Amino acid sequence: MQIDSSIRLFDCAKKVMPGGVSSPVRAISPCPFYTSRAEGPYLWDADGNRYIDYCLAYGPMILGHCHPAIASAAADQMSRGWLYGTPSLLEVAAARRISRLYPSMEMLRFVSTGTEATMAAIRVARGATGRDKIIKIEGGFHGAHDSVLVKAGSGATTLSIPDSKGVPVDTARNTLQVPYNDLDALEKVLSSYPGQIACLIMEPVLGNIGPVLPLPGYLEGVRRLTKEHDVLLIFDEVITGFRLSLGGAQELFGVKPDLTTLGKIIGGGFPVGVFGGRRDLMEQVAPEGGIYQAGTFNGSPVSLACGMATLDILEKEKVLDKLNLTGKQMRDGLQEIVADLGYNYHVVGIASMFKIFFGDEPQDYAQALKCDKNSYLAFFRRMLRAGIFLTPSQYETDFISAAHNSQVIETTLEAARSCLKN
Ligand SMILES: Cc1ncc(COP(=O)(O)O)c(C=O)c1O
Repeated sequence: MQIDSSIRLFDCAKKVMPGGVSSPVRAISPCPFYTSRAEGPYLWDADGNRYIDYCLAYGPMILGHCHPAIASAAADQMSRGWLYGTPSLLEVAAARRISRLYPSMEMLRFVSTGTEATMAAIRVARGATGRDKIIKIEGGFHGAHDSVLVKAGSGATTLSIPDSKGVPVDTARNTLQVPYNDLDALEKVLSSYPGQIACLIMEPVLGNIGPVLPLPGYLEGVRRLTKEHDVLLIFDEVITGFRLSLGGAQELFGVKPDLTTLGKIIGGGFPVGVFGGRRDLMEQVAPEGGIYQAGTFNGSPVSLACGMATLDILEKEKVLDKLNLTGKQMRDGLQEIVADLGYNYHVVGIASMFKIFFGDEPQDYAQALKCDKNSYLAFFRRMLRAGIFLTPSQYETDFISAAHNSQVIETTLEAARSCLKN
């Protein structure tokens, strides 16, 4: 495989962009490939190599790349203008539609990214309760803002330390962490800080170390405990929204949070974020209330037009039902391969998400960290050379789009068998 152009681009990029990339996860070692175009399930790099894409921009591209209906929705909206700075017809229709699919989101606001959505949802929780502390799940990712860029110390109740330089220790101090799938640890933290915790923010299915799935009864237990301790529950459905079901994980598992954040798919591949929830909480957001949130690009018309066009297709063509079958084909196929080869690896996933864990199936972050991430990386590199682009880390979820047909999956499984065997 020739990668001369990507190497040249990497050399140039490193001089003007940290690590030669716009986001750290894209920094594939020793050299990222630089994409020149995308279509359907494929990406092409600057050297003309074609890859089957399971990263799918980390989730948004559920219909595959360059879907004609989304391209025409974008062009159609562009012909009517692409940024108004006023309320628009489109955002009213989009808000009503999302609220219908997510009944827990009685009111909502559009922002530009998932990061902004979680930042605002946490502010709403803090503003509404008058409390500063929040709980997050170890290994849960909610974007790159200060309150959530924090990892746990040695124990669940240990005060946290910042995960990034530049996060004030005073901010990190207010972020408590608990392991996923551990109701006892959650109860302990909730009991240790009575009247001080504004919210628990969590991905209902941990997408950023896995996927790691909730044990039976876990999400219901979380809801019960947060209610008992009068702590708001935020479901961060930036990944799971519109993928696990149209109404997200909360619909699939039947657990109703107080606040929800959405992103990725609902922008149709354009930047978007949404936060919303109980009316009594959202009525406290400015201009109705004193919790401030604002943004030049909030409710971006092109993002909303493409998000609504995506939703039209997901709904009318029952895409999620088909995608779930493709997801199962992929997971079953991979599981069969690792079993044939006699490896103690585990294929985990749900709906159209999957991952091969190079180790036991994890139930939380600490268990996921025990996987053999170096062997995963060696596998990732072999797959890349075979023209398959998996997510470049043991701790990222792989996604399937509607453009990945059975033939594409079979090609991938053949490559996986050969790369795992070697
Ligand atoms: C669960 C979750 N929340 C929030 C975010 C942040 O979203 P964005 O990258 O759009 O800022 C991500 C990003 O991957 C995510 O996976």
